[in-house]
Amino acid sequence: MTRARPAALALGSLWAFLACGGEPGAVAPASSGAGPAYEVPISAAAAQAALRMSPVPPTPVDPTNRVDSDPRAAALGRALFHSTSLSKDGDVSCATCHVPEGSFVDGRRLALGVLPLERHTMSLWNVAHQRWFFWDGRADSLWSLSLVPIEDPLEHAFTRAGVAHAIHGDAALRRGYERLFGALPPLEDGARFPAAARPVPANDRAHQLADEHARASRQGAEHHTHLFGSGFRHPHQRAWDAMSTADQDAVTGIFVNVGKALAAFQRQIESRDAPFDAFVEGLREEDSAKVAQLSPAAARGLELFVGEARCISCHGGPLFTDLEFHDTGVPEVQGAPLEDPGRSRGLETLRASEFGVRSRWSDDPEGAAGVKVDFLPAAGHGHGPGEFKTPSLRGVATTAPYMHNGAFKTLEEVVEFYVSRRGARTTGTTEKILVPLDLDEGDQADLVAFLHSLTGPPPDLARLAAPDR
Ligand code: HEC
Ligand code: HEC
Repeated sequence: MTRARPAALALGSLWAFLACGGEPGAVAPASSGAGPAYEVPISAAAAQAALRMSPVPPTPVDPTNRVDSDPRAAALGRALFHSTSLSKDGDVSCATCHVPEGSFVDGRRLALGVLPLERHTMSLWNVAHQRWFFWDGRADSLWSLSLVPIEDPLEHAFTRAGVAHAIHGDAALRRGYERLFGALPPLEDGARFPAAARPVPANDRAHQLADEHARASRQGAEHHTHLFGSGFRHPHQRAWDAMSTADQDAVTGIFVNVGKALAAFQRQIESRDAPFDAFVEGLREEDSAKVAQLSPAAARGLELFVGEARCISCHGGPLFTDLEFHDTGVPEVQGAPLEDPGRSRGLETLRASEFGVRSRWSDDPEGAAGVKVDFLPAAGHGHGPGEFKTPSLRGVATTAPYMHNGAFKTLEEVVEFYVSRRGARTTGTTEKILVPLDLDEGDQADLVAFLHSLTGPPPDLARLAAPDR
């Protein structure tokens, strides 16, 4: 195949180079007083695209979370993120799966909490820039997402009443909490505030899986709506139903505040200033040393990414994602169902969510942040099974394995899959744009080199790892 020839450019002439129509290899006239010529290793079209993919914009503030950018909330959120006291047996925290020393992932194909999950742990890089959360987008804010793992019977397997008690019973957490959100209710009153209580959602996938595990292990009469037939009420639900509405709201309010503090912490998990960003800055500033920070292989990979390989049609913008959902036909792995309904079920769950951006627990229920949920497609429309969120590719070199089910161990495997489409699931609504690509091994290595150029310096663990207590 033909390759774009690098353009020899005089300093000061980038804009002329771009304006001259994007002919690969075109040499633009030097602007007056410009320094020595240097090489822009990509075509004008690729340079145009690259300029739109860097830098990462400032972290957006979430108006539905009033403590989103409060440093005290971030400090409390940090303690909560690392605390195992918000789990059934006191041994799972967010950091069990989102390991700070491991780039906030666990390295596993499928996640393992109190029980095994059927999805792969997601990267948290630049998570506050996301629009929908989880692989299937079933949460519409970072704070409401953060509540899900805590009550998920496969992850923390805990209850919101348990969360209130855990904070109440821990001097440091309680101090941090009350300084921000005011005094806790009289949780020592066990008659009003049971140790474990929560509403248990009906038809929830995680609960179905927990039931299956309970049935298989024949011990746990604990998770099992189905084990006991339709008249069965979960003990957590029974304890919840016995509480007054005001006390239920007090406990849910604490739970929601915990989610908001966790979100304030996670806003800081950012990946910026990658070699690719230096390169784009170099283009803008016509600084040849910065331009040279993108290796020749990565520059060729960039040319393919935005061109022939068409990755950019889904992985565009400074986060390298369209923030939308697509079926890429990822092959099956053991432990995860082939027909994961993905976004189609995610939408149903989102609509039923108690904690949406338009709910009474949001700090801006009438605001513009809610517009995205006002126009969701109606049930049964708009999304087929197998659609998952396009992941951001920032920091991607640090978050193997890949895809919603961890199907691929390396970036080489991911790229090989896009190129050959070998093993691609063909049922469902696989995107028509995903056809085999005419890219040889060298091209594939170039794409991988480009993906590597999207990872910035390692995180500042002094701010993000477990706090000293
Ligand atoms: C048992 C492992 C595990 C634990 C514990 C866990 N997570 Fe996750 N996390 C996952 C998995 C798996 C996903 C994807 C789940 C899905 O899409 O269904 C995920 C997704 C996420 C996402 C979505 C990112 C995005 O781009 O949409 C965020 C944010 C997150 N987790 C934060 C947390 C927080 C906060 C906690 C603690 C309250 C936590 N996680 C606890 C495994 C875990
Ligand atoms: C039709 C939209 C689309 C196109 C085109 C596309 N991707 Fe993706 N990409 C996705 C989606 C959706 C996922 C997640 C799929 C899943 O988990 O099932 C994904 C996942 C990935 C991942 C894994 C990231 C992670 O954290 O797990 C990488 C790497 C990736 N794509 C790179 C590329 C490259 C390189 C190209 C071009 C050759 C490309 N993509 C083309 C939509 C697309």
